[in-house]
Amino acid sequence: MSARELGLPERLTRHDDLPPEVTIWEVGPRDGLQNEADTVPVDVKLEFLDRLANAGLTTLEATSFVHPKWVPQLADAEELLSRLDRRAGVRYPVLVPNARGLDRAVDAGIVDVAVFASATESFARRNLNSTYGDQFAMFEPVVARARDEGMAVRGYLSMCFGDPWEGVVDPDRVVAAGRRLLDAGCWQLSLGDTVGVATPGQVDRLVDAFAAAGVGVDALAVHFHDTYGQALSNTLAALRRGVSTVDSSAGGLGGCPYAESATGNLATEDLVWMLDGLGVQHGADLDALVITSTWMAEQLGRPSPSRVVSALAG
Ligand code: HMG
Ligand code: MG
Repeated sequence: MSARELGLPERLTRHDDLPPEVTIWEVGPRDGLQNEADTVPVDVKLEFLDRLANAGLTTLEATSFVHPKWVPQLADAEELLSRLDRRAGVRYPVLVPNARGLDRAVDAGIVDVAVFASATESFARRNLNSTYGDQFAMFEPVVARARDEGMAVRGYLSMCFGDPWEGVVDPDRVVAAGRRLLDAGCWQLSLGDTVGVATPGQVDRLVDAFAAAGVGVDALAVHFHDTYGQALSNTLAALRRGVSTVDSSAGGLGGCPYAESATGNLATEDLVWMLDGLGVQHGADLDALVITSTWMAEQLGRPSPSRVVSALAG
């Protein structure tokens, strides 16, 4: 008999230290597909987005308006968005690094964008061809203009815990960088563990450091990659601190082409299994997600790294 037929996971009454509801910020179509060796055909991406919306997810990070030579896997952003059936009640944020990216997002009729900074010098240079300081000069006018256009702008911050070139990242440095994005006008800051090295104690410490600087959990989201198997533990630590937006990718796809040691994001299915057990609402249909990720794994020609997908699909 399957785990689901046996009524698993057992759904406990939510403990008071957890948020009643979590927003799942699904990054599979963007973070999940930006690192594929072979570019995924646009028809497959469209079906992926459709299936994710059918599975009840309401925030689907669709693609990026970055330089097509830097991320050829997402060079089809215009075609994808022109053909996408944008559902009522679903948000389709996209990444924009600079003024040119924002122009492209405006032309595509996008209302949710995200800029993405680095807490470290090394990754700013590699990912953005910029210094740590200059990245803010690039983003600040983009955020201001996007807001003038009526867009909501999220701020990502990468390398919030450890960096493959610089080692452990000082929380004060992360808070200073995060404040720059929030002060520029980002409504939310997503704290990225780009290479998946963080552990839960670091998550507690960083959320505390933001609180000490006057940034509450309402302004924070978490974005864990699962390289060292810590993503779900780190997520639970963040939930216990009151963070209620969690980035994840269906099937655990993901990685960053400019940080080779990055592997997939926290799998949406693994997150949903845990939230179900904890009695935290999320609005997603786990069975539909597992079917979607099994289908996507067939398209990509390799099994999903998600433990929950492999357990339930088997
Ligand atoms: P650059 O080469 O320094 O750009 O790249 P530039 O400003 O010097 O411009 C050079 C040419 O590119 C110009 O064309 C521009 O128009 C064009 P020319 O005048 O020579 O013909 N150009 C563009 N074309 C289309 N769209 C654009 C664009 N920008 C310039 N947006 C740049 C600088 C920032 C553009 C580049 O470094 C870039 O695209 N980087 C993006 C890298 C990326 O996407 N990384 C993955 C996403 S971040 C991530 O995954 C982390 C995250 O998941 C959180 C976490 O896990 O930590 C978010
Ligand atoms: Mg990422």
